[in-house]
Amino acid sequence: MQELFYIKLQELNQYYIKIIILVSAIILMLLSWSIYNEYEHKKISALEHAKNTFEKDMMFREWVASHGGVYVPPTDRTPPNPYLSHIPNRDLITTTGKKLTLMNPAYTLKQLMTEYKGMYGAKGRITSLNLLNPKNKANEWEVKALQIFEKKKQLEFHEFLKKDNKEYIYYMHALVTEESCLKCHLHQGYKVGDIRGGVSIVIPMEKYNRDFYNTIKDIFLIYIVVYLIVVFGIRYTHKILKLSILEQEKLYVENQKKEEIMLAQSRNAAMGEMISMIAHQWRQPISVIAMWANNITADVDMETLNKEDCKKYADNIVAQTKHLSQTIDDFRNFFRPDKSKETILIKDVMEDCLSVIEKSLQNNNILIERNYENFIEVNIYSRELMQVFINIIKNAKEALIDNKIKNAKITIKIYEDDYSVISEIRDNALGIKPEVIGKIFDPYFTTKGVKSGTGLGLYMSKTIVEKHLNGTIEVKNIDDGVSFVITIPKK
Ligand SMILES: Nc1ncnc2c1ncn2[C@@H]1O[C@H](COP(=O)(O)OP(=O)(O)O)[C@@H](O)[C@H]1O
Ligand SMILES: [Mg+2]
Repeated sequence: MQELFYIKLQELNQYYIKIIILVSAIILMLLSWSIYNEYEHKKISALEHAKNTFEKDMMFREWVASHGGVYVPPTDRTPPNPYLSHIPNRDLITTTGKKLTLMNPAYTLKQLMTEYKGMYGAKGRITSLNLLNPKNKANEWEVKALQIFEKKKQLEFHEFLKKDNKEYIYYMHALVTEESCLKCHLHQGYKVGDIRGGVSIVIPMEKYNRDFYNTIKDIFLIYIVVYLIVVFGIRYTHKILKLSILEQEKLYVENQKKEEIMLAQSRNAAMGEMISMIAHQWRQPISVIAMWANNITADVDMETLNKEDCKKYADNIVAQTKHLSQTIDDFRNFFRPDKSKETILIKDVMEDCLSVIEKSLQNNNILIERNYENFIEVNIYSRELMQVFINIIKNAKEALIDNKIKNAKITIKIYEDDYSVISEIRDNALGIKPEVIGKIFDPYFTTKGVKSGTGLGLYMSKTIVEKHLNGTIEVKNIDDGVSFVITIPKK
């Protein structure tokens, strides 16, 4: 039985390890998922930044294009654009004599991009595979992007690349020819809708990577705290459950000990009862032996001892001693501990029991009536059942004597139904008071006072019947006494 607690503890430990592994796996998964999300978020933000930069540039370009270009005073910084020399009104002089030169969208944008490049992180460039201005020549990556636009008819392309150990997002958006572009680019053979080139934007990833690592640090910290809390929680629960199992085991062992003590006490009580029964059984043969021995002494004293008389006395003494030793055998049988089950008729168990107890019943003028209809043997610890029968019959005897019942009688009926062998023991000792009958199987419950009662007989009987014989024991009052019914299953 204690193995059960050991198994329970082992099971608990296994659960504990499994749960820790499961929780660790889940938290690790969530952590990876969060990191992956942050990583994606970093890339999306950088791409968003690049797109915004492009859109801002386009808005500005659009604004310039919507005016058909803008005129600014020509300076070293903004000389007349040689690529616009084919435009009739490239250079103007106002009525007040101020000189102005035309800036087309590409020219304005290029100036904006070169002069303010990197101001807000992003660097942009307009480029094409078919150039007006050779300074706008596409680099290797831009050529690749432009070729992709031409081949796959897509308008955007981006990549994250390392250059000199630093990471950048390279973004390019195609420039599609519109009506307003043809003013400058018509001579290159473009039509509306053609991809004419692209705006490339390069943004260093440093800030995004820094943000990413900072967020990851925070996430790690939070996950570690959560993990520790969860693991401590599980550990704590495990500890409490373990303690409760150990506590249960302790209680179980204590109960076991208590039960053993009670069993020993009730065996002692039964032993006392036996000894008093042996005394009853031996009283008569011993007095007979004494009588024959007296006869021998008297004959010797009177010198009348002859051979025949002597032999007769001796034979009688031997016969009585045989009876004595038979009684001892009976009792020894009763006290022999049950090591293994035997297959036996319950009525035989009852007869064995009566053979030791009947004499003391007869001495108290108690009649025993037997009524056996028992043919099926059962496999049981027969000594234990005998102890139960003795306890019940002894109680009946005590009640009959205490209540000074005339025509005192114990009726024993053993019969069978489909599943069980039923033993009923009745007496006519006036029954048990109703307020007491519910307690008689409780340990240490007695109405006989501490001197004559232990209160263990019926408690032990119930324990034996229910736990060792898998049966039931019931009590009820009948007209003039009590009926105990013991049901033992056939299988
Ligand atoms: N046949 C009976 N008639 C009347 N009372 C009984 C009978 N059998 C048991 N009892 C009651 O049940 C109580 C408990 O019995 P038991 O457990 O054998 O303890 P004890 O005999 O030591 O008192 C007895 O004290 C008695 O009051
Ligand atoms: Mg008793």
